Amino acid sequence: MKIISSIKEMQRISDELRLQSKKIAVVPTMGYLHEGHLSLMKIAKINSDVLVTTIFVNPTQFGPNEDFNTYPRDIESDKELAGSIGTDILFIPTREEMYPSDFLTYIEIEKITNVLEGKSRPTHFRGVTTVVAKLFNITKPNIAVFGQKDAQQAIVIQQMVKNLNFDIEILIAPIVRESDGLAMSSRNTYLSEAERKESVALYQSLQLAKKLIEDGEWNCSLIISEMKKLISTKPSAKIDYISIADAETLEELPVLQDGKRMLISLAVRFGTTRLIDNIIITK
Ligand code: PAJ
Repeated sequence: MKIISSIKEMQRISDELRLQSKKIAVVPTMGYLHEGHLSLMKIAKINSDVLVTTIFVNPTQFGPNEDFNTYPRDIESDKELAGSIGTDILFIPTREEMYPSDFLTYIEIEKITNVLEGKSRPTHFRGVTTVVAKLFNITKPNIAVFGQKDAQQAIVIQQMVKNLNFDIEILIAPIVRESDGLAMSSRNTYLSEAERKESVALYQSLQLAKKLIEDGEWNCSLIISEMKKLISTKPSAKIDYISIADAETLEELPVLQDGKRMLISLAVRFGTTRLIDNIIITK
């Protein structure tokens, strides 16, 4: 596995690979890799000739009161894990190279970034789209793999790729969960033992919603209020939002719609740790 930190060198290697007609896949991450990240790499590996994994804790997607400084980092373990899955190139740029002092350009996707995560984190998605566009221009991939874990991020990136005509195929990988159902996340490491136990309520509430829907419920506010009830039994839990929305437009739905892909998503704080989860359903 080659480890590269220079943008110019990464671009030169990608140019060379493309001249050799190699299919490049990129998996962008912020590191502290877990099975969720590795599942993306496995999918990328199967669908390409050369797998580029990127690790960059992107400052522009963190709000001023968010966890940029404390975000978990373990580059040695990341190198080992990325290598074990068959990453060919690990791209780890520096903050200075990604955002030099004269940096002035941001990419903003309208509308779908103002709801759900964007409502609670107003500058988050412009940071995500900006860094992902930069990583696309640096690694020059044919395909890129993102996780369903960050459902809105996946939708926003697909919109950007479509609107800005990036010639890149986007694959969305399913959520990888712990054995009790908690979606894997680098941030799970912040949870105390008690909070970790309570955090399973996230997945349980989604399963409850699914069951209610299978049993014939159509009313979204009723489904949401049952999810709220379940989560409220956990003392450390504080709900940020619970939403049932059209999975393409992210518009809230008062009642379920026949034949539509719908996204049930939620963000809940356990103590100071904010966790997200979601499922897609069709009626
Ligand atoms: P990060 O949180 O490190 O996640 C990197 C990728 O892994 C994202 O596409 C995310 O959706 C996916 N992922 C995380 N946990 C997962 C799980 N349990 N199952 C499946 N996929 C999972 O998302 C980011 O970084 C950043 O916003 C980034 C896109 C790298 C831009 O900075």
